[in-house]
Amino acid sequence: MLDSSPNNDFNRDINYVWHPCTQMKDHEAYPPLWIEKANGLYLYDKEGKSYLDVISSWWVNLFGHNHPRLNKALNEQLSKMAHVMFAGITHTPAVDLAESLVGLTPENLTRVFFSDNGSTSIEVALKMSLQYWSQTGQPQKARFAYLKGGYHGETLGALSVCGMDLFRKPFDSVLMNNIEVEGPDCFKCPYGLKPESCSAECFEVMERTLTQNASSLAGVIVEPLVQGAAGMKMYPPVYLEKLLEACEAQQVHSIFDEVAVGFGRTGTLFVCEGCNLKPTFLCLSKGITSGYLPLAATLAEESVYQVFLGDYASFKLFIHSHSYSANPLACAVANESLKMLQEEEFFNKLSPKIDAFKGGETLFTELPWCGEYRQTGMIAACELVQDKATLQPFPLEKRVGFAIYQEGLKRGLFLRPLGNVIYFLPPLIISENEIRRLLEEARDCIRAVLA
Ligand SMILES: Cc1ncc(COP(=O)(O)O)c(C=O)c1O
Repeated sequence: MLDSSPNNDFNRDINYVWHPCTQMKDHEAYPPLWIEKANGLYLYDKEGKSYLDVISSWWVNLFGHNHPRLNKALNEQLSKMAHVMFAGITHTPAVDLAESLVGLTPENLTRVFFSDNGSTSIEVALKMSLQYWSQTGQPQKARFAYLKGGYHGETLGALSVCGMDLFRKPFDSVLMNNIEVEGPDCFKCPYGLKPESCSAECFEVMERTLTQNASSLAGVIVEPLVQGAAGMKMYPPVYLEKLLEACEAQQVHSIFDEVAVGFGRTGTLFVCEGCNLKPTFLCLSKGITSGYLPLAATLAEESVYQVFLGDYASFKLFIHSHSYSANPLACAVANESLKMLQEEEFFNKLSPKIDAFKGGETLFTELPWCGEYRQTGMIAACELVQDKATLQPFPLEKRVGFAIYQEGLKRGLFLRPLGNVIYFLPPLIISENEIRRLLEEARDCIRAVLA
């Protein structure tokens, strides 16, 4: 319970702050963790107690907190220039970063538009797609298809392609008239197939949608391989292969939202590059600065870019601006982080860590409440169910995930379950031993709460 003395810091928080995605009433009974400093994998509270940052501070951190190389890159840039506008002006950190991103992503993606968070990277892709069709004489192509369970941020455009009622419902009346498509559901596959051996038979629903609506569809947006906010729902690359083929056949743009899965999370730098897939747009953010500063990039195909060129008076330019677009500090850190991702056999060193996560399979499936343990690269999740035979979920009102979160805090783990899904998405620098310990500790938390 909160101490009611006026000098109590938690009181000051509750008096003045409105936290994101938080029922603030909860904080009267459960104050937020007050973190004083962070180093490596750990967050430290005022008393010096450490918490393993199991979810990389909302999926952004790759190399741990307070990394000397990233600090140095930031400080060096700070001594030169903190910020400058990005229209009519350019600078080395942004140009270096754009060049690197173009070099590291599929060759069809040739242009980089900078903004400053994941949602706006999506807004940019949606707007570019709409304006492309408008400027190529097909303004009726003005809707998007998106997957059930899809999440792309919470600005209104991004919510218009969100397949989760929780986020979109209060705003439904003002959202674009887009098309929600039943996507892959490998946890409860209606075809009775296994993701390792299926051919994405479920793609037939998307195929039909694209065929029937091609004339009104601007694009399709997906989170490649892992639907994060939906509960780390995973599906195989064959779905994406089919999607890109169908998009090309139906002349519909493909938008890959790699805001969460980009920068190594799935075991390759990007899903599109790892799976050799060429989307029309690629949206990146979160890990781009390894959790240091807000930055986002939307990469577009050259054919899209060309449609925006013309005489000044044609007004074909892309009108979208953010005050902090391509912030030099953020770009400088992103450049250093990208260098680190490419150095010292970084991805070879990930393989044993990915194997360590495979160990979770036995650890969790032995539990009577584990409906599924799933993993894609450095992302793993255990979906808890009330009844293993029927996969009946725990009712959300029971707040099973929240109780496990509380138990985790006691044991020095900062988990933040997504409903009934306990997931692991730690900084990529975590060691194999730390992964094993983390999985065991999390398993014990689940036991402690549910046994
Ligand atoms: C796949 C995906 N897209 C977009 C976003 C939105 O990013 P941001 O929170 O930076 O606006 C998120 C955030 O979790 C995400 O997971």
